[in-house]
Amino acid sequence: MRIGILTGGGDCPGLNATIRSIVRTAKTRHNAVVIGFLDAWDGVMERRFIDLELDAVRGILPMGGTILGTRRGSPLDHEKGLELVADTIRDLGLDGLIVIGGDGSLTVASLLYQQINLPVVGVPKTIDNDVMRTDVTIGFNTAVQVATDSIDRLYTTAESHNRAAVVEVMGREAGWIAFHAGIAGGATSILIPERQFHIDEVAEHVARRHRRGRYASIVVVAEGARPVDGCMEMPTYARDAYGRKRLGGVGAAIARALEDRTQIETRLTTLGQVQRGGSPNATDRILATRFGLAAVESIASGYFGTMVGLQHGTMMNVPLAEVAGIPRCVNLDLYGEISDVFFG
Ligand code: F6P
Repeated sequence: MRIGILTGGGDCPGLNATIRSIVRTAKTRHNAVVIGFLDAWDGVMERRFIDLELDAVRGILPMGGTILGTRRGSPLDHEKGLELVADTIRDLGLDGLIVIGGDGSLTVASLLYQQINLPVVGVPKTIDNDVMRTDVTIGFNTAVQVATDSIDRLYTTAESHNRAAVVEVMGREAGWIAFHAGIAGGATSILIPERQFHIDEVAEHVARRHRRGRYASIVVVAEGARPVDGCMEMPTYARDAYGRKRLGGVGAAIARALEDRTQIETRLTTLGQVQRGGSPNATDRILATRFGLAAVESIASGYFGTMVGLQHGTMMNVPLAEVAGIPRCVNLDLYGEISDVFFG
């Protein structure tokens, strides 16, 4: 058996643990040849790859980032992109291509399967946790821990100074990191893309707490959160090389608006890439190991056009077509139920 691997989209903790698991499973159980394409789809189109022998993955389990490199962008950005990918897979005699990616890379994988019948299997990764048909993605748990640790630290300094703290975390379409870290850190308000917020309500909630004698308020905001139209000024977003909005800035706008409305000194912390870098925690290492193993077995069994997903603790193969292009969002009933008691 001959297997190719790529890591696509934004990096996250646990990618190397996944690569290690794929190589170990492929070699130990199937005596397979494994190659790793460099820089995501670019490496597939340009035939840039490395051989992944056991030696190449020794010691990488706890390492952040990806030894293969990653890029945004897809073969669809190139006139002959799909053909180039198909030619590479055929010429290298690959029996399967494992695409470790978020929504963007998995959507491309789905297209490659549907349009040209390429033998692809997806593995869901992204700190945003917004991939359909899996309860969790690689990287999410570590990001939540980093964000929670940060909230704990911000709380003690805010409390000492009787301040409010706004913490901006990632979460483009879905507010999973904000929601989970906000609950774990005991946030005052949690603002997520799934539910528009009114800045006056957030300000009133913060002010009321401080009037009652609390000395700190923590507002956790996902970068994709949106205010009710016209209630506050928002930043304008530039676009990256692939036309995606470069988010970041809503936290700063909220911090200014809160301070104006409450007269409580309000400080901003934007976690940015800090929450995406570094070593995966134990939960992500275990998840990555399980996903890698399942992905190799999916190829060995010919379950192409699928993604491995964890549902209620059970590893499943789900059709990529049911994953592509649809973000998995925070359940607003759960958000409402918890916010009733714990945050505003
Ligand atoms: O990986 C997904 C994500 O973390 C989004 O939440 C965020 O908007 C984006 O990556 C930022 O990506 P980059 O740092 O590559 O611009």
